[in-house]
Amino acid sequence: MCGIVGYIGHREAYPIVLKGLKRLEYRGYDSAGIALYDGEKIKLSKTKGKVADLEERLEKEISTNGTIAIGHTRWATHGVPNDVNSHPHYSNSGDLVIIHNGIIENYDSLRKELEKRGYTFTSDTDTEVLVNLIEDVQINEKVKLGKAVQIALNQTIGAYAIAVFDIKKPNEIVVARLGSPLAIGIGEDEFFIASDASPFIEYTNNAIYLEDGEMAVVRRGKEIKIRKIKNDRKVAPYIQELQLNLEQIEKGGYDHFMMKEIYEQPDAISDTYRGRMLAAEGIIKMAGVDDNLAKLLNAKRIIIIACGTSWHAGLVAEYIFEELVRLPVEVEYASEFRYRNPVIHQDDVVIAISQSGETADTMAAIKMAKEQGAFVFGVCNVVGSSISRETHAGAYTHAGPEIGVASTKAFTTQITVLALIALKLAERKGTISNSEFYSYLQELERIPAKVKKALTYNDQIIPIAKAYKDAKNFLYLGRGFNFPVALEGALKLKEISYIHAEGYPAAEMKHGPIALIDEHMPVVVIATKKGHYDKVVSNIQEIKSRKGKIIGIVTEGDVTVRELADHVIEIPETEEFLMPLLSTIPLQLLSYHIAVLLDKNVDQPRNLAKSVTVE
Ligand code: M6R
Repeated sequence: MCGIVGYIGHREAYPIVLKGLKRLEYRGYDSAGIALYDGEKIKLSKTKGKVADLEERLEKEISTNGTIAIGHTRWATHGVPNDVNSHPHYSNSGDLVIIHNGIIENYDSLRKELEKRGYTFTSDTDTEVLVNLIEDVQINEKVKLGKAVQIALNQTIGAYAIAVFDIKKPNEIVVARLGSPLAIGIGEDEFFIASDASPFIEYTNNAIYLEDGEMAVVRRGKEIKIRKIKNDRKVAPYIQELQLNLEQIEKGGYDHFMMKEIYEQPDAISDTYRGRMLAAEGIIKMAGVDDNLAKLLNAKRIIIIACGTSWHAGLVAEYIFEELVRLPVEVEYASEFRYRNPVIHQDDVVIAISQSGETADTMAAIKMAKEQGAFVFGVCNVVGSSISRETHAGAYTHAGPEIGVASTKAFTTQITVLALIALKLAERKGTISNSEFYSYLQELERIPAKVKKALTYNDQIIPIAKAYKDAKNFLYLGRGFNFPVALEGALKLKEISYIHAEGYPAAEMKHGPIALIDEHMPVVVIATKKGHYDKVVSNIQEIKSRKGKIIGIVTEGDVTVRELADHVIEIPETEEFLMPLLSTIPLQLLSYHIAVLLDKNVDQPRNLAKSVTVE
């Protein structure tokens, strides 16, 4: 987690780095800091809190002229979020200054070694240990900064994306990555460094994404030099053209990114299938799938690995693959899978789902599955992300940047991609008929309009949010395809409103959770027509007779649940396997409104970060 930004060139560095930090704040927002070289000395300012707090402090504290700067926005791992533990960190001499995203796992033993050699530390961070280790190497080995960074990193265990510069040589920044992302924007005689490309999108379309285990020296006005950290081998820079624009990463008139992203879903879903699905002709073309069709068709089992919301999308996919393709599917938390001793066969296909493409647990699980001979297919949103590069093949969701920490459009577009894959395999295997295949494609094409319709019920959700915003607990119930949606609805509420919520399969309620129900318990029940409707109606009766407050998510025109429930929110009818794309919409909106009414920070909930690049 954490966001890092740097600039070296001919422009004023401060506004570039500050704006960049604001764009990367989704990665962590416990504290922030900037170090700027003004031609004579380093001006460093850092503070607990958000980038806005830093900005206020900086403008009071220091002049901000200078053409080289690095900045950091933190999600605390080692050491509580306070001013001292904030980045950047100085080395003991005050010459080196560093920012770091990741964890140096052996920092404690390195710190003890350095202390024996007289180094002192002001913070509790692993990063301060690293910058002093680099300094120690530089002094003892009498090498340039780049070499010192390389030697020092070879003594570390852990993950990092770092940027470091030496005030005695303020014409270069040394960067390196292992396990945490790092992009370098290439301008005219200038370089931008960042955890993703968003901080420099208005300055250049050309970027290099460092691969794991690579480092680079960026020198003002010189060509970039990239090397492997381990063996010093030179690497030819691979410059990519970015497909990101400024509009995509701004709020576009909405109060929060989350709401913007909820409303982007009709377009995001059609962007996901555009160019891949020709519904009228009955064609699905997906390069990653087509090029590996035999592998996918011959798979005896699919194992899905993911975390959080992506894991919920994986659960929906389990139901879809089993229903349409008749293939056994296991859905695993990546964090559990990587530390178990899972049985993986050569004819298993592993699907890794990740919005960011940077989640550390998912990445580690992929590596393990590959080592055991599995074919790994990635479903990622961020183009060029680590997971998209680590997997054998994959399909992007094309949802556009998702900035709000609570995933919304990532979920629906992941389900869309997975449904496309399942439909393609089902058609090839003959597990669905031709006419079913055609009609499912046509229904998928109608989904964006139906999501739009579901969004029009937003105004009816606000009074429900007002009625229950002070509840201490919520239950979310669903069956079949809607069970993972219940889990996802509960996660959305927890993460942005801090209200405790649990998702359950509706029928499981009587095995325990029913004991929680009384007149204070709001229960959100997904009771759509095709999803075991009669059974869910019975579950609603059970809640009602225990005085629980029922918020029913129903298909348009429903009569039965309307009579039983305290509130209903309608969504359009669709095929059962596509229902999660619609039933999740009112749950996203309900959580959003409750969080806004409670005055919570919707886009940056406490303790969270958008991409979890530590385990
Ligand atoms: O980037 P990923 O999809 O791999 O992220 C996985 C989870 O960290 C993520 O879905 C998280 O649970 C979200 N905050 C949920 O809204």
